[in-house]
Amino acid sequence: MTAKIISGKEVAAQIREEIKEATEKLTNENSIVPGLVTILVGDDPASRSYVTAKQRTSKELGFYSVQDSQEADITEEVLLALVDKYNNDPKIHGILVQLPLPKHINETKVLLAIDPNKDVDGFHPINVGKLMIGEANFLPCTPAGIQQLLMRSGTQIEGAEVVVVGRSNIVGKPIANILIQKQDGANATVTVCHTRTRDMAAHTKRADILIVAAGVPNAVTADMVKEGAVVIDVGVNRVGEKPSKKDPNRMVAILKGDVDFDGVKEKASAITPVPGGVGPMTITMLMLNTLKAARLANGLEA
Ligand code: GUN
Repeated sequence: MTAKIISGKEVAAQIREEIKEATEKLTNENSIVPGLVTILVGDDPASRSYVTAKQRTSKELGFYSVQDSQEADITEEVLLALVDKYNNDPKIHGILVQLPLPKHINETKVLLAIDPNKDVDGFHPINVGKLMIGEANFLPCTPAGIQQLLMRSGTQIEGAEVVVVGRSNIVGKPIANILIQKQDGANATVTVCHTRTRDMAAHTKRADILIVAAGVPNAVTADMVKEGAVVIDVGVNRVGEKPSKKDPNRMVAILKGDVDFDGVKEKASAITPVPGGVGPMTITMLMLNTLKAARLANGLEA
């Protein structure tokens, strides 16, 4: 079997079109412009490229967007005050603090400082808790994107055996939580594997849907996958550099996922590529959350 490629690029483009139309309507009929601030501390190249992409997309969709770049040596106190400024800015509906933060800053403290109603990343403990009890406010973006990819590719989720590889707060734990909910697009049986799992392959081989967010290239190979499984590769590993197609004088990262794509595509029924799979969905779901935050802040239904 050669797998169908689930193109996150195409699904994301479709959802962005929906967001753009809804934004136009909101602006024309209600005079509301969704506002997003992205806060970047330091100049890590990967973080900078994510933030740049988030800014570009938000502008394309007609949002009010603010890029706030801060030096790596900013104090925790000053950063907390900055978050508070945006908490009180009525033009801003979504606040995103790009992670990771420098070591001298307590990440949890910063995430806690964000108004939960502006927490478009879905990382605030209140929003994590709401997701857990089936009353999600903002779903974290990467897991929400994975769920959309599964739903929009016609994958049977209800009753499926889902195996998640990785237990991060950003992907592994929340996607497991989303897919066990008693809700449409969920109702799956979920197993979470991690670095202390005794026999990883024994689990992955049972999966109808295999979600890999390990942060390790080739963590999943064909022998670990069941014939006909749907495989979602969340990995973004920078394995080198190459000249950009658009501008050969500029170097761009060579990206590889966590799944041995060439081997696994011969066994799976569907698979996401890297790049062009989960990545474009993450940014798109951030935009959807920001639109939702703008509607809720103005007393409209989500
Ligand atoms: N760093 C890596 N992924 C993310 C994300 O989804 N949101 C934020 N804020 N930082 C990240």
